[in-house]
Amino acid sequence: MQKDTIIMAFESSCDETSVAVIKNGKEIMSNIIATQIKSHQRFGGVVPEVASRHHVEQITYCIDLAMEEANVTYDDLDAVAVTYGPGLVGSLLIGIMAAKTIAFAHNLPLIPVNHLAGHIYSAQFVTDLQYPFMSLLVSGGHTEIVLVKAPGEFETLGDTRDDAVGEAYDKIGRVLGLQYPAGKTVDQMSAKGNDVYDFPRAMVKEDNLDFSFSGIKSAFINKVHNAEQKNEELNQNDLAASFQAAVLDILSNKLFRAVEKNPVKQIVVAGGVAANQGLRNRLAKDIKDKNLDIELVFPPLRLCGDNAAMIGAIAQIQYEKGDFSGLDLNSDPSLDF
Ligand code: KG4
Ligand code: ZN
Repeated sequence: MQKDTIIMAFESSCDETSVAVIKNGKEIMSNIIATQIKSHQRFGGVVPEVASRHHVEQITYCIDLAMEEANVTYDDLDAVAVTYGPGLVGSLLIGIMAAKTIAFAHNLPLIPVNHLAGHIYSAQFVTDLQYPFMSLLVSGGHTEIVLVKAPGEFETLGDTRDDAVGEAYDKIGRVLGLQYPAGKTVDQMSAKGNDVYDFPRAMVKEDNLDFSFSGIKSAFINKVHNAEQKNEELNQNDLAASFQAAVLDILSNKLFRAVEKNPVKQIVVAGGVAANQGLRNRLAKDIKDKNLDIELVFPPLRLCGDNAAMIGAIAQIQYEKGDFSGLDLNSDPSLDF
């Protein structure tokens, strides 16, 4: 029998400090997530300097808890993995420093992980991945269509030209007076409303797989401001539903174009916006209506947002390939595939 591989993984790219212990890239022995969201809410977004300070405060507690919950000692570990980008430079550096320290002190290999790859591989906790598979990566910072050709081999087919989809949710949420991050509330409101405002579906007619969400955001803001000036009352749920309907049309259109050009057996949807119930329902319906023999994979809700378990999942593949870095590993805030 093959020996188990146990990896300690770190994630600190934005506003979650997370440490996980993962067995063979598939079994979550522990996944501690310390969120700082309350500290950022009053600013309406993540404040980088505040985020770094919280990471410093939280990281050692997270390490201790992750080891305690997994019931492992440093001797049980085979490697240490860490997100080195993309993300906030000050936040990334805290996780990198902690991971390097453990790697150095316990003579363990250090695995440098791309945060976006981590999001995609959160699907590995749900199903056995079949290559090639298509992935729709939708988060607060990214909106990409990525073809995963083989384990750890990525090709970006489409990207956003301006705002990320989660960012658009948060911005229109602000206009509606919702607390940051607003995605979940907009999703809940849209279930109670109707698509009556017909916001633009940007770029759906263009023959490419790229996205643009700044136009719909501006159209939304203009609609609300014009109504305010005329003292007109707009139905908030209808506004949310109209925004979400446009977003879902855009995501669905580009995703299935990508699948048409690159036949796959699985679609993995990952990132914070993969928690969206409207998106889950819409893509399931599309697959049925189009009669496609494709498995739609959404990570469980707790693995849609930032977490270290997903970093441990992709790290296993890198471990098997011997994809290690030296102790001079630096952060790469704008890392892509
Ligand atoms: O992946 P994530 O936790 O952090 C980044 O790496 O960006 O994604 C956070 C984003 C936020 O913009 C948040 O509003 C959005 O995910 N989000 C949602 C939902 N839950 C979280 N957006 C739409 N519907 C949701 N249910
Ligand atoms: Zn993320």
